[in-house]
Amino acid sequence: MKATARAHANIALVKYWGKRDRELNLPSVGSISLTLRELFTETAVEFTSELTTDELILNDRPATPEQTGRVSRFLDLIRTQAGIKQAARVISRNNFPTGAGLASSASAFAALALAGTRAAGLTLPPRELSILARQGSGSAARSIFGGFVEMHRGTRSDGQDAYAEPLADDHFWDLRLLIAITDEGEKPLGSTAGMEHTAHTSPYYSEWVRSSEADLAEMRAAILARDFSKVGELAEFSCLKMHALAMSARPGIVYWNGTTVELLQAVREQRKSGLEAYFTIDAGPQVKVLCLPENVSAVRDFLSGFPGVQRVLETSPGPAAHLIEESA
Ligand code: PMV
Repeated sequence: MKATARAHANIALVKYWGKRDRELNLPSVGSISLTLRELFTETAVEFTSELTTDELILNDRPATPEQTGRVSRFLDLIRTQAGIKQAARVISRNNFPTGAGLASSASAFAALALAGTRAAGLTLPPRELSILARQGSGSAARSIFGGFVEMHRGTRSDGQDAYAEPLADDHFWDLRLLIAITDEGEKPLGSTAGMEHTAHTSPYYSEWVRSSEADLAEMRAAILARDFSKVGELAEFSCLKMHALAMSARPGIVYWNGTTVELLQAVREQRKSGLEAYFTIDAGPQVKVLCLPENVSAVRDFLSGFPGVQRVLETSPGPAAHLIEESA
């Protein structure tokens, strides 16, 4: 059987950083995100006896052994659950830069979870898919759903309570997120390595974990009340808190470049002069700016004219992961 799925990237408004279990990929904090319509991964999976090992084509090129190994280990989870042994041919394409802090692993593993299970003859309910996707990448658990999504850290050691759930769908609130690309290259330190290093060496880590529940409760309420100023203020807070945590590791991790810093200052300056917009940044140097639809053109003009910004992507709330094609 062959199945093709599309899953959208997401941006965390309350950030996830740190794992409570490496093996099952269990997060030590919950997170809240927005799924993005314009950024997605499309993945086709076919289990076939023609192959003896898994084959991965990523963005029209054979993937590296590391990338193929990561996908193979994920497919093993599906093979075990489905009771099959065949190798798979996986063809995956992102419509945006891979590995530059644009959440490519989120859309990639959400699409792989959906296409892979269907190709293996399984039909999993969304919560089970989220639990499966989480084992590929923590943020992928959120990309199973559309709109505003909350990921629960869970407390169980088997991970069965560490899944994402929708807070409100993609039609609930028309926010816009503009992404200012300041560097198209791959990030030097991946999120898993960055998280491990932070958890082991930062003196602030336990406080980060302890204080996360309050951030989640505030953000949940602000989203449901459609309180844009509150959502924006909390998103900036969570972003700076996460980066301050990473910087407090030893040696400190800095994902930003000069333009990143200039941009955060400038977004705040713009806000003082009346353009209401807020920034957030993931494990990379791109700056993502949240605004209301009526301010999109002003924010786009400001970002595209900014020194060091290579291009600007405009995104809006997007749908859940879904199947595009299935054939026997
Ligand atoms: O899911 P991962 O392992 O790619 O980690 C995501 C980490 C951040 O993007 C920085 C934060 C988040 O919650 O998405």
